[in-house]
Amino acid sequence: MPDEFTVTPWEVKGKVDYDKLIIQFGTQKITEELKHKIKNLTGGELHVMLRRNIFFSHRDLDLVIEDYEKGKGFFLYTGRAPSLGMHIGHLIPFIFTKWLQDKFKVNVYIEVTDDEKFLRNQEYTLDQTRSWAYDNILDIIAVGFDPDRTFIFQDTEYIRNMYPIAIKIAKKLTFSEIRATFGLEMSSNIGIIFYPALQIAPTMFEKKRCLIPAGIDQDPYWRLQRDIAESLGYYKAAQIHSKFLPPLTGPEGKMSSSNPETAIYLSDDPKTVEKKIMKYAFSGGQPTIELHRKYGGNPEIDVAFQWLYYFFEEDDNKIKKIEEDYRSGKMLTGELKQILIEKLNDFLEEHRRKREEAKELVHVFKYDGKLASEMWQKVHE
Ligand code: TYM
Repeated sequence: MPDEFTVTPWEVKGKVDYDKLIIQFGTQKITEELKHKIKNLTGGELHVMLRRNIFFSHRDLDLVIEDYEKGKGFFLYTGRAPSLGMHIGHLIPFIFTKWLQDKFKVNVYIEVTDDEKFLRNQEYTLDQTRSWAYDNILDIIAVGFDPDRTFIFQDTEYIRNMYPIAIKIAKKLTFSEIRATFGLEMSSNIGIIFYPALQIAPTMFEKKRCLIPAGIDQDPYWRLQRDIAESLGYYKAAQIHSKFLPPLTGPEGKMSSSNPETAIYLSDDPKTVEKKIMKYAFSGGQPTIELHRKYGGNPEIDVAFQWLYYFFEEDDNKIKKIEEDYRSGKMLTGELKQILIEKLNDFLEEHRRKREEAKELVHVFKYDGKLASEMWQKVHE
């Protein structure tokens, strides 16, 4: 029987069964034992997204931890294909990457793929994707990365330094592999055929193990990387995969920039947030107050609850109470939505403040003619 859901780097459709996806993609579930180990190493509480299994799957995370314990270290890599305005779902991997950086004090490389966005979409010009890159980089810096350990680069600018490793990768991959992995056509433009080499290249920026925190939609790139890395003298990249923040409109698919009513953008003002949540946020409640009091709501499908659960309500006791009250009918949909609106608006206000500050910091984080490796020498001298 065909699956009722699809997950590819360009599309997430249907209600994703994450346990099935682990089998389909051949990844591993993050076990309680592994979480325990990370907790002991990092001290204090695990990040909310790890505690609640929003980051739920991995490859070789155990080996990354082993390398860290042995003093070999590791590095982090993640990325973003720039678009006009990021939504809150896009922040998930960045928030989590920052936490890992804080805890393990490791380097982070962030690739901004203005080339990918341009090549994949007929309607976008290169000028557009490059200006969105700058704009999205401000949102990424606002997450709070360590300026001494973070290197953000835009493909069309850093290409000269990536090219030697990218062509080594490209030589190992055939058109038929790329076509099968990404579902390309004979009519696909040749830029998009080569592009995977550029997304794989940063996994080889250091001779240490690379850990990639990202949504699980990006996994096909890493499967290719793992097929060829060792033959080029590098480690197979490790991953830690997240689930998708559901769109406002219901538990199916993922929040998408191209569909404004499914998303809250980082630039949405308080009134817009309130309007969108009230109007579009899919409710797990009953059609009338009487029925809701009697039968209660269903938090599993309620988008406001799910967003609070993903990360907007970090306090485990509070989220438990909200869940119980909603399930029992004591809390109404409108009340639940109000909690989310407040949390979201507080979060966005703080984000916008940090985004303003980021404008003065771009030169500290972003490629400015120096090689990534020179940055690290400076840090480690
Ligand atoms: P992009 O720009 O589509 O997505 C950026 C990151 O956000 C994740 N993501 C989500 N996570 C949770 N909930 C959602 N609703 C949601 N929507 C998107 C994505 O999984 C991704 O981690 N090709 C990449 C750019 C890239 C990259 C990388 C990503 C280049 N190198 C290395 C991750 C790691 C892209 O189109 O991302």
